[in-house]
Amino acid sequence: PAMKIAFGLEDLEKQVAEVLNVEKVIVVSGDSDEYSWVKKELGRACVQQMKKQIAPGDIIAVAGGTTLAAVADMVSPSEKWKDAVFVPARGGLGEKVEIQSNTISSTMATKARAAYRLLHVPDQLSNETRTSLSLEPGIKELLALIRKAKIVIHGIGEAEIMADRRETSDGAVQQIKEKAAVGEAFGYYFDREGHIVHKERTIGLQLNDLNEAQTVITVAGGSSKAEAISAYMKYRPSNLLITDEGAAKAILNR
Ligand code: G3H
Repeated sequence: PAMKIAFGLEDLEKQVAEVLNVEKVIVVSGDSDEYSWVKKELGRACVQQMKKQIAPGDIIAVAGGTTLAAVADMVSPSEKWKDAVFVPARGGLGEKVEIQSNTISSTMATKARAAYRLLHVPDQLSNETRTSLSLEPGIKELLALIRKAKIVIHGIGEAEIMADRRETSDGAVQQIKEKAAVGEAFGYYFDREGHIVHKERTIGLQLNDLNEAQTVITVAGGSSKAEAISAYMKYRPSNLLITDEGAAKAILNR
């Protein structure tokens, strides 16, 4: 029976990869909407894949969220992390400290016994302040490091849930609703067709900075995220999607 289950997941992986146009998909069993241990398994699978991808000295940019926090939980010391540098993908997005990308990046680095850098940018900034901050030597250098990341790891959220969780401004919430955003990643909101309909004001990785030389790993599960995952992958299919059975089946049944 164990073999059968394994074959079942492998089949799902192939089908989801094809439907989403993603190079490689890994599906863990269960649905993280139903059981919290499934999110831990997503974390475990993600760390396994990171270790396969990483080369000594690589910069790894990590986003925020509870799924990324589950990834951080699973990191342990290994030769693989030799000279790795963990950096946050973007500045504050209004999340609780525990799940901000700064925290996740420092947790991963500490557990990996590797280096990390922090991006100290307050969440709510005027355009002017943000522009002048990004010209500060320390921040400018870090922004350049983020752009050089070899591996980028991020989660995907449902648009309205993310806007609500981050106490996003009324104007932005209206925009998100009016333009029918369904998914969110890196502070960018996407509609069903994968168009960006809103972007949070923070510095760091811009989606159009992503390039072919990077490995972008998306980790997102739960059947409730099917629409959000599909929307984001229309914008830019990742190199690797780590998801669960719940989301995979819901993606195929859309
Ligand atoms: O940007 C995506 C969200 O950070 C995902 O958050 O992992 O807590 O669902 P989550």
